[in-house]
Amino acid sequence: MKGVVFNLLEEVVLRAFGPEAWDDLLDDSRVSGAYTSLGNYSDEEMVALVDAAATKFAMTRAEVLRWFGARAMPVLKERYPTLFSGHSSARSFVLSVNSIIHPEVRKLYSGANCPFFHLREREEDGVVLMGYESSRKMCDLAHGFIHGAAKIFCEEVDIKHHTCMNDGADKCLLEIRWVQ
Ligand code: HEM
Repeated sequence: MKGVVFNLLEEVVLRAFGPEAWDDLLDDSRVSGAYTSLGNYSDEEMVALVDAAATKFAMTRAEVLRWFGARAMPVLKERYPTLFSGHSSARSFVLSVNSIIHPEVRKLYSGANCPFFHLREREEDGVVLMGYESSRKMCDLAHGFIHGAAKIFCEEVDIKHHTCMNDGADKCLLEIRWVQ
């Protein structure tokens, strides 16, 4: 996983709990903590950090990833404003993840292994169905990113996991419903 994701987790933890909390997570997870944004680091290091955060903050692994994703969005907006500026809603922002956001990320961070989502907007009720498949099984990060994006556009979404790789399914299927 790209160092930029570790940098982002560090920033989110610093903003919420301060530098000591990040130092504690590095100690507890026994990872190096020296991450350059363009470097590649093992997924296991991210899992170790997420598990350490789960223990320290009394959350599940899924809750940590959702919290991280939601809090990361405002940081991403500060760092990559152009990815957000063309959008007036979270719907179009989320729907641009395969066509614009992650392709841009791959240009900026060579070798980035961003997931591809199967996206479909259901005509009758506007629900967005999002299929996800990745050996990292980080659907909860996607969940958090989407909640964070909704907040940026002053919207509220309800997200359900119909199927989940973390429960043994081949693929995840997320249903994103905009709350009026
Ligand atoms: C709603 C929008 C987004 C969703 C749902 C999303 C989802 C994800 C997920 C789930 C991953 C984990 C990797 C995996 O599952 O295999 C990921 C990776 C990543 N995403 Fe996104 N993302 C979104 C927006 C963004 C934005 C705005 C940026 C930054 C500008 C970004 C940058 C990255 C990077 C750098 C990685 C790591 C790739 C790697 O380590 O190789 N994403 N994304």
